[in-house]
Amino acid sequence: MNIVLGITGGIAAYKAPDLVRRLRERGGDVQIVMTTSAEEFVTGTALQAVSGRPIRSNLWDKEAEAAMSHIELARWADVVLIAPATAEVMARIVSGGAPDLLTTICLATEAPIAVAPAMNHVMWNNPATQANRRVLEERGVHILGPGVGSQACGETGAGRMIEPDAIATAVFDLGTSKGEGLLAGKKVVITAGPTREPIDPVRYISNRSSGKMGYAMARAAIAQEADVVLISGPVNLPEPAGVEVHSVLSAQDMYEATHDAIEDADIFISAAAVADYRPADVKAQKIKKNDESMSIELVRCPDILASVAALDTGPFTVGFAAETEKVDDYARSKLEKKKLDMIIANRVGDDCGFDTDDNSVNVFWTDGERRFPTARKSELARNLIELVAQRFYAARGTDTQPRLTVVSNIE
Ligand SMILES: Cc1cc2nc3c(=O)[nH]c(=O)nc-3n(C[C@H](O)[C@H](O)[C@H](O)COP(=O)(O)O)c2cc1C
Repeated sequence: MNIVLGITGGIAAYKAPDLVRRLRERGGDVQIVMTTSAEEFVTGTALQAVSGRPIRSNLWDKEAEAAMSHIELARWADVVLIAPATAEVMARIVSGGAPDLLTTICLATEAPIAVAPAMNHVMWNNPATQANRRVLEERGVHILGPGVGSQACGETGAGRMIEPDAIATAVFDLGTSKGEGLLAGKKVVITAGPTREPIDPVRYISNRSSGKMGYAMARAAIAQEADVVLISGPVNLPEPAGVEVHSVLSAQDMYEATHDAIEDADIFISAAAVADYRPADVKAQKIKKNDESMSIELVRCPDILASVAALDTGPFTVGFAAETEKVDDYARSKLEKKKLDMIIANRVGDDCGFDTDDNSVNVFWTDGERRFPTARKSELARNLIELVAQRFYAARGTDTQPRLTVVSNIE
C-alpha cells in the first residue's frame, strides 16, 4: 500500500519514526511529507532513514517536484495519513486552502484521507476544532482517535494521539485494495433522517432525527466497497461521496423509494426515524387560528421496516430502535415482532441519541448480542457495518468472518 504520511507540528511527532516502522512492517510504502513546524520536533534525517525515501516538505522544491510532482504524489497514494494532525492542519484542510505541500496533496488526492489528531485537550474541545472535526467527518475523512489520558503539557483529557500500532491497523483497514472490501459487490439500501408529514401547506409533523447515524452508516458501507443507495429524509448534511442519494419528504415517499430500490438489495438498514402517524387530511389552505383548541386526526404511516422484512426473498434486514426507556426490552420485542435479522438499539433523550455526534448502542440478533460503548457515530458506524457484514454472511451460510477492528477513542 502506498501511504503518504503527513507529519505536522505537534509534540507527538516524536512518535513518527515508530509509526513509519509499523506501517512498513505491514507492507506499506511510506512517503513522508512534513510541514515546516514538524521539522521543529523531529528530524528529516531520522525519518528518511526509517522510511527509506527522501522526505518531502517544500512545495517549491524544484528537484523533488521534477522527480514526482505533488499531483503525481496525490495520485500515487492509496491512503493519505496525517499523524500527528495539529488543530491547525485540520483547519487548513477544512478551509480548502493549499498553502503547503501536504494540504495541496489532500486537495488533489482521490485516496481516502485519515487524520490522527494530537493536541492539548482544551484545543481539542475548542468549538472551532470540534466544528472542523465534524466537517472533516462529514466529508468522509477518517478521524482516528484521539485518545484520552495524560498529555505532554501535564494535563489530562482527550487529545492524545492514539498509539502508532492502532493507527497502522486502522490505516490498513481503510486502504483495502479494490475488490477486498467486506461488502464488495453487495448492494446496501439505507434509510436516514426524519420524515415530514404535512398538516397544511406551511406546517408538518416531524422529529429530531439529524440523519447523522444513517449517513455515517452509508459512508462506512462505501468504505467496505458496497453499492450504497441512501434514501434520505430532509437533513442538513452533505451527500456522502460515491453514494446514490434519493431525497424524500414523507413516510409514504420513503416507503415507495425504498421498495423501488430494494428488489436486488443484499442488505437493508433502516436508520431513518419514520413517522408512525400522519394527519388523515392534509388541508389545502393554511389552517387559521380561530378556536381555543384544535385536534388533528392521525392515521398510521406505512411500516417500511416490517414491509421489507416480510418480503419473500428480501434482503438481510437491520432495524434501529430509538427508545427513551426499556431500550433492550423494546428492541428485542421489535426484532421478534417484525422478523428482523438484526436490531441496533439506542437510548434517545435530551442528552443523547438525536442530533449528537456520539452514540452508544446495543445490537441484538436471534441468538446473540453485542454492546458498543459511547463513541463517535462515524467510528461506531465502521464497527456496526463490520458486524452487519459478519452476520449477513453467517445468515447466508457463507464462511466469511470479517475481523472486528475497533479504533477506540479511549486508551
Ligand atoms: C512546543 C510546541 C508544541 C506544540 N504542540 C502542538 C500539538 O501537540 N498539537 C497542535 O495542534 N499544535 C501544537 N503546537 C502548535 C503548532 O505547532 C502550530 O499550530 C503550527 O502552526 C502547526 O503547523 P502545521 O500544522 O503546519 O504543522 C505546538 C507548538 C509548540 C511551540
